[in-house]
Amino acid sequence: MANQVKVNTGNGEFEYPVLSGSVGPDVIDIRKLYGQTGMFTYDPGFTSTASCESALTYIDGDEGVLLHRGYPIGQLAEQSSFMEVSYLLLNGELPNKSELDNFTRTISRHTMVHEQLTSFYKGFRRDAHPMAIMCGVVGALSAFYHDSTDISDPVQRRIASHRLIAKMPTIAAMAYKYSVGQPFIYPDNKLSYTGNFLKMTFGVPAEEYEVIPAVESAMDKIFILHADHEQNASTSTVRLAGSSGANPFACIAAGIACLWGPAHGGANEAALNMLKEIGTPDKIQHYIERAKDKNDPFRLMGFGHRVYKNYDPRATVMQQTVREVFDALKVNDPLFETALRLEEIALNDPYFIEKKLFPNVDFYSGIILSAIGFPTDMFTVLFALARTVGWVAQWNEMISDPGQKIGRPRQLYTGPTQRDYVGIDKR
Ligand code: SDX
Repeated sequence: MANQVKVNTGNGEFEYPVLSGSVGPDVIDIRKLYGQTGMFTYDPGFTSTASCESALTYIDGDEGVLLHRGYPIGQLAEQSSFMEVSYLLLNGELPNKSELDNFTRTISRHTMVHEQLTSFYKGFRRDAHPMAIMCGVVGALSAFYHDSTDISDPVQRRIASHRLIAKMPTIAAMAYKYSVGQPFIYPDNKLSYTGNFLKMTFGVPAEEYEVIPAVESAMDKIFILHADHEQNASTSTVRLAGSSGANPFACIAAGIACLWGPAHGGANEAALNMLKEIGTPDKIQHYIERAKDKNDPFRLMGFGHRVYKNYDPRATVMQQTVREVFDALKVNDPLFETALRLEEIALNDPYFIEKKLFPNVDFYSGIILSAIGFPTDMFTVLFALARTVGWVAQWNEMISDPGQKIGRPRQLYTGPTQRDYVGIDKR
């Protein structure tokens, strides 16, 4: 690959360096383009734009490869834990036993929320969507934790990072409890990160709560699969918010808001609702035709991806995990058969083959979460819970980059050129 490219704009020829990473596409460094040519690049949706340099996560969309700090997602899902993957994302290397124990203990020391925060929930209607509650409550954390909002202080950045990772399960469980009118359950630090979350969600004061190991392991695997994913829309939102110097709690709240969209993290809720609407396999073909119809806004939720033009490796693990949870809970869900059949039909349909549309992380997750007992409107909350470590790691990577500056894209202006004001009596 050449180490520079030439751009001839008609009023001169300019050269721009080509930069190479450790793996993946090279980039053309166009930081001087506007200053030299007076022209912008144009890339709505950023389909061909690298917004930053990062060492956290690498995706090869054509091969269906996802690496976190070089480790394949399939190996991490099968052999690691969400706490260990969190340590890896934040610190760059897998921890040894004492490092992992210290990290886990540190996170567990931040699982409680300020008691005043519990009254914050009472301002919401009981039927408020839990993602609306997450946006509000996480944004409000900056009103409670002033001592970890100075982003120039690495110690405060570390504390805020630990607080966010530790408190998301508590806040998420409280959102669920509030929606079902049950009392909040305090964290139990004798349990694992994920076991504690399950107890805060499904435990009640009147009964002992036993964590089912197979469910705990499946939930932990689901958290690993959602931890980070390069510069997706919500991560880019967190980075852009952070680039202005906003405090980390506000930045993560911005990420939660972006994740909520059905084209992004909201797809897991939309995918299960779609499977419920399809119902039985005999109805699948009708929905496949709707998904292919340009005049029909319907899309197969949980299918397609901006980067993966092959099977999302997370969907592979997710599909296997469905069977593990069904076996552990001795349940079955006919929607799983519908999902498997839908996948089989879509993957053999020329439209999906030509457009390289495969199941993504959101296609099967709802079936597992529903089997475990989560209501559909909690699915994206769980995605946000797990993605918080990725958002925090990406935010830290950006903030600690000495070259970091505020993100401020330009535009192709197509509005009216300058004109004079006309008084209302003349209009
Ligand atoms: C996540 O970016 C990430 O990494 C995100 C994520 C993460 O971990 O952070 O992986 C999580 O968001 C997964 C994606 C969840 N979203 C969905 O499942 C919603 C359904 N999928 C689509 O909305 C769509 O596939 C996107 C939004 C995911 C990707 O859209 P792109 O990259 O902008 O692609 P596109 O919309 O331009 O689609 C390309 C073509 C279009 O047809 P043409 O206009 O070229 O004729 O494929 C078609 C689309 O109409 N298409 C679909 C489709 N997805 C794309 N057709 C039917 N069903 C679909 N699901």
